[in-house]
Amino acid sequence: MKPTKSSGKLGVLIPGMGAVASTFIAGVEAIKRQQAKPIGSMTQMGTIRLGKRTENRVPAINDFVPLANLDDLVFGGWDINDENLYEIGIRNGVLEKTQLEGLRDVLEDNRVMPAVFDKSYVRNLDGTWVKSGSNKRDLAEQIISDIQHFTQAQQTENNVMVWCGSTEIFLEVADVHTSLDKFEAGMLKNDPGIAPSMLYAYAALKAGLPFANGSPNLCVDTPALRELAQQQELPIAGKDFKTGQTLMKTIIAPGLKARQIGINGWFSTNILGNRDGEVLDDPDSFKTKEQSKLGVLDYILQPDLYPDLYEDFYHKVRINYYPPRGDNKEGWDNIDIFGWLGYPMQIKIDFLCRDSILAAPIVLDLVLFLDLARRTGMSGIQEWLSFYFKSPMCLPELYPEHDLFVQLAKLKNTLRHIMGEELITHLGMDYYEN
Ligand SMILES: NC(=O)c1ccc[n+]([C@@H]2O[C@H](COP(=O)([O-])OP(=O)(O)OC[C@H]3O[C@@H](n4cnc5c(N)ncnc54)[C@H](O)[C@@H]3O)[C@@H](O)[C@H]2O)c1
Repeated sequence: MKPTKSSGKLGVLIPGMGAVASTFIAGVEAIKRQQAKPIGSMTQMGTIRLGKRTENRVPAINDFVPLANLDDLVFGGWDINDENLYEIGIRNGVLEKTQLEGLRDVLEDNRVMPAVFDKSYVRNLDGTWVKSGSNKRDLAEQIISDIQHFTQAQQTENNVMVWCGSTEIFLEVADVHTSLDKFEAGMLKNDPGIAPSMLYAYAALKAGLPFANGSPNLCVDTPALRELAQQQELPIAGKDFKTGQTLMKTIIAPGLKARQIGINGWFSTNILGNRDGEVLDDPDSFKTKEQSKLGVLDYILQPDLYPDLYEDFYHKVRINYYPPRGDNKEGWDNIDIFGWLGYPMQIKIDFLCRDSILAAPIVLDLVLFLDLARRTGMSGIQEWLSFYFKSPMCLPELYPEHDLFVQLAKLKNTLRHIMGEELITHLGMDYYEN
């Protein structure tokens, strides 16, 4: 089915109005006012080749698929302190104060809604701007009514929700997550397996919103919420935005493997000083992040298929909370590799990145692509959006695809497919046949 046209305003609702969310929203407002360019966003800057190389058809993605216009985006969100987006932007210190001053009117207008928050899932934070309710079902209903108020106040035609909230403690799929019936019964009984991020995902899907999960939390990645997404015919995607160090890993590891270069070990360490870093200082939140970061290399390198190259390779990931750095993370990688006849070599990477600067365009692309998916009638897990995630969601019987370039091919072929264009296989023999 081809996507219908985008019409009216598109609301972007964000649980977790922290560094990523405020950098994303302030950025879109700056771009709307032509004060900046949407660097890093495929929907705004990317192109797509169509047909044969001799046809020279390479439209902008934005012209090829009917995406919502940035001018039609409006924003709302929840967090645990009573602040507006200008105050949040200043506190996080990602964007320059002068840049935020220029957007002060629109940012100050955006005051966050009180959160559904429970400290037992994010131990290093304390919330004052928090909802209370008789049980978890009641709290989810309160989120639904927030969505309805937002829709009326902003006169939005459609909305999308993206979780940009903190990393919660490590949770695994339990009985309460195995079906929608059990999940709904569990909410009434305040089952501890149901974390706040799941209540937002449930509320979004119930209210008819596509949902993306930017953190490594289990969140929407359960049979119960997949069932709800299917029932509501809504697209979902996750987990954990693929930004700094993991982005580098999924660029470099496929290249080494493609050339059959062996790896003995990959040691990654980071220092960062934002609230995300503070939350990850709690071992149970770190465990959730660690699982998300560790999976990447195993899936890319496939040691079972390449035992001589990758069997027993050692992979370690550390995150160190170091306040002076704020959002300006530094990530070091030491990669011990070996080549011809087993001779050892090393690669060192020192990535001085800005976490939220890398994450913001991902949020934008996910919003626009999920809205497109909804208008195309695509529901359930959107594997073609794996490109944006550290730990891509996929069906339990599949393994996730981590190689950035396979992910890119999948994404662009999906766009070609929904617009009725030929898929590109890069075979290219036909050019040489005559
Ligand atoms: N910055 C990146 O590059 C990046 C990359 C990948 C993933 N992530 C993930 O994205 C999320 C956001 O990152 P960030 O750097 O903006 O962190 P942040 O700490 O600045 O923002 C997260 C916000 O979520 C709020 N929050 C926590 N629980 C909440 C709840 N139940 N309801 C509403 N708000 C809640 C916190 O108060 C905080 O303001 C984190 O989970 C992080 O792990 C970030």
